[in-house]
Amino acid sequence: MTESNTTSCHWHLERDQAGIAWLRIDVADGNVNVLSLAVISELQQKVDELVRNPPRGLIIHSGKPNGFIAGADIKSFLGMKSEQEAAEFMRGVHTVFDRLESLSCPTVAAIHGFCLGGGLELALACHYRVADEDQGTRIGLPEVLLGIHPGFGGTMRSIRLIGVPAAMDLMLSGRPLSARAAAKLGLIDHAVPQRHLLRAARMLVLDPPQRRQLKPWLKSLNLPLLRPLLARYLRRQVASRANREHYPAPYAMIDLWERNASDPKSMLADEAASVAHLVMGDSAQNLIRVFFLQERLKAAGRDSRFKAQRVHVIGAGVMGGDIAAWCALQGLMVTLQDQSPERIAPAVKRAAQLFSKKLKQPRLVQAALDRLIPDVAGQGVPHADVIIEAIFENAEAKQALYRTLEPRMKPGAILATNTSSIPLQTLTPALQHPQRLVGLHFFNPVAKMQLVEIVHSPQTDEQVVRDASAFARQIGKLPLAVTSTPGFLVNRILMPYLLEAVELESEGVRPELIDRAAVAFGMPMGPIELADTVGLDICLSVAEILGQSLGNARVPARLRALVSEGRLGRKNGQGFYSYRNGEPVKARISAGMTLPADVTDRMMLRLLNEAMACLRGHVVEDEDLLDAGIIFGTGFAPFRGGPLHHVRERGISALRGRLEELARNHGARFTPDEEWQRLQAL
Ligand code: NAI
Repeated sequence: MTESNTTSCHWHLERDQAGIAWLRIDVADGNVNVLSLAVISELQQKVDELVRNPPRGLIIHSGKPNGFIAGADIKSFLGMKSEQEAAEFMRGVHTVFDRLESLSCPTVAAIHGFCLGGGLELALACHYRVADEDQGTRIGLPEVLLGIHPGFGGTMRSIRLIGVPAAMDLMLSGRPLSARAAAKLGLIDHAVPQRHLLRAARMLVLDPPQRRQLKPWLKSLNLPLLRPLLARYLRRQVASRANREHYPAPYAMIDLWERNASDPKSMLADEAASVAHLVMGDSAQNLIRVFFLQERLKAAGRDSRFKAQRVHVIGAGVMGGDIAAWCALQGLMVTLQDQSPERIAPAVKRAAQLFSKKLKQPRLVQAALDRLIPDVAGQGVPHADVIIEAIFENAEAKQALYRTLEPRMKPGAILATNTSSIPLQTLTPALQHPQRLVGLHFFNPVAKMQLVEIVHSPQTDEQVVRDASAFARQIGKLPLAVTSTPGFLVNRILMPYLLEAVELESEGVRPELIDRAAVAFGMPMGPIELADTVGLDICLSVAEILGQSLGNARVPARLRALVSEGRLGRKNGQGFYSYRNGEPVKARISAGMTLPADVTDRMMLRLLNEAMACLRGHVVEDEDLLDAGIIFGTGFAPFRGGPLHHVRERGISALRGRLEELARNHGARFTPDEEWQRLQAL
């Protein structure tokens, strides 16, 4: 091999004896390859060099073990000052990728691990793509999740390669694909075992096959006659998931295609302008903020070397069963204890369903099931690195269990409780070493909810908090350290909002209208349906506990009445709504149904006011972490960037004034927390 002589930091170009150029990306100052301005401009030099001195073929691959390219450098989007600057950046990348694409020799992207966003767009500018079929390979265009769409030519090139329906599905969902799924779609040419990856890329260069042609019927979808019909269909699909006002990106993508489908050149130019416009908008800026909040949560526990191999879960109910299954899915050996085999059996059955859904291949499903071991006698206790207690929400029962458990635990093992309302301080008297108890508060449904609150009391050892956070990361969750105060963070903030919705319903506002107002604000599900989903008995018990300790969560009589009538929500088919096949039966909203003007403010301001109280009480370390917790723990409108960010955008004094007005009209529960004044004065 001979190395090229231009100085390089990120790209390394070598030629082998067969005359093939190997261009390796290994971004100098990070452990993941991302396409920053510097990386793109160095690529430009390399491409220029290849144009001047064409090789027999070109293979682009990555020097990082974790993947090919994770995408564009998102930080650069935050720093852009104007649409012009953003559009210029995109056009610069287009020029480089166009030159790469027009090289006369065969060009191949050899992909392993992440190949996302700008990374896939680069691969699409190569003539062929081959990828490692390993589970860790992730190929996709997730830009829409950041409030933008592909901007490095990916809209045009993906549609040209695999046709509008598949390309739009890829871009509108943002969902990454495995190598096999990508090969099936035609997005890549071959999925091969890792040991054959570079050899397969070399074969493509030495003996290039005919390039993939799009089937005529797929091509015809770009015709002016069919385009508007398909565009309308796509918009309808998107509208069922995202509101144009909150999430303009998917609509912009459809518009872009509709305007330019017959002219790839104009599509590229328009793509740059469209992304530049989106990236400067509030929705994208806030979604990018959420991306960085997520990165911050992911960084928690990084300073711990804790790595669990064995987990023991006690209580195989709704939560314990699903936590055990999730840990086994993530590759850990798990023992699951309950009072009898009959209590464990339903959890194993649910686990089997989860494994089939997530792992698909029977061999992998079986291996995950083998990792989940029913253990009525608790034989796993002395071997476990982490013990998660998820038994009934009863302090005496938990204490009695800890007394028998602690002497059998191995030194250094974490003892975690999944309690949703009992302060750690109430439980620690049962322990010889109270500093080892930490809360790992998972949310229901465990497989879906990303956040885990890492609950600590003043007694909890800081290292245990770090280790518990590292454990949450190990199983793919987002840890958030919270103090052991009533309701911790998420339930405490959510509850006043749910109770206000119940209050509104008892005043005669239709539940359908209440839910619609919250969804229009950007919540993933309306509060009435959410209360039914959580279970009205659980809501009542959390509300009572919070009411006693915080004094501001007055429990509406209507909630008590429903629970005493046995209407517990979705789980028994009757709550605020009636349920048919697990779905709420909702009345059609008609023009005659009126919604009081302050419904949204009443619900959301109670949530925001409680967020302020949590900030004042230092339940979490700072504002950003509070926003992160509420977004990932409740789904709070991500395009608004989090509750406190939303407060700052709408104006602290305006919202405080609105609360005062609501307090005058509806009662003291709206009295602004002192924190409003402190923030206002800063
Ligand atoms: P559950 O009632 O579904 O399950 C509890 C299980 O623990 C039962 O199977 C029971 O047989 C078993 N159990 C009780 N005492 C035991 C003992 N001494 N040894 C072994 N097994 C024992 O309860 P769920 O809903 O799973 O709640 C468990 C914990 O998780 C509670 O602390 C709850 O506050 C918390 N939690 C519940 C959430 C929910 O949405 N249900 C959400 C987050 C936390």
